[in-house]
Amino acid sequence: MKLFVCLALIAVVGVQALTDEQKEKLNKVGKECREQSGVSQELIDKARNGEFVEDAKLKAQMLCVSKKVGLTDDSGNINVETLKTKVKKVVDNDSEVDEIIEKCAVKRNTPEDTAFFTYKCLYENKPKFSPVD
Ligand SMILES: *[C@@H]1O[C@H](CO)[C@@H](O)[C@H](O)[C@H]1NC(C)=O
Repeated sequence: MKLFVCLALIAVVGVQALTDEQKEKLNKVGKECREQSGVSQELIDKARNGEFVEDAKLKAQMLCVSKKVGLTDDSGNINVETLKTKVKKVVDNDSEVDEIIEKCAVKRNTPEDTAFFTYKCLYENKPKFSPVD
């Protein structure tokens, strides 16, 4: 039980693990994308706290951010090598990195869904993951 509480705490604190610089970069990219996607701040805040609401605007926002940071290419496919580099920054184990990529970088029906589910999966596995350096 104690271990569980402890792990839960780590998970929660992990959410705040982005550095100020990362947050700033993410905010900047996010702001540019919001002009296109029209997503509400509320849904963005929720997603940052791990609640990924299935919403078309939020998905469009995630695809836009993903493209801007180079995680998604122009055809809407995940740039696996770039993703791997970023995951490696928060995972200190190459086999684990490969497992996470295999599990999370899954192509869905639309580029929006792909971006959405990839981030959701990354967040659930590695809350410290940051799409920006
Ligand atoms: C690295 O990750 C793999 C797969 O999750 C695991 O089996 C292995 O024990 C890990 N190695 C280390 C050194 O933590």
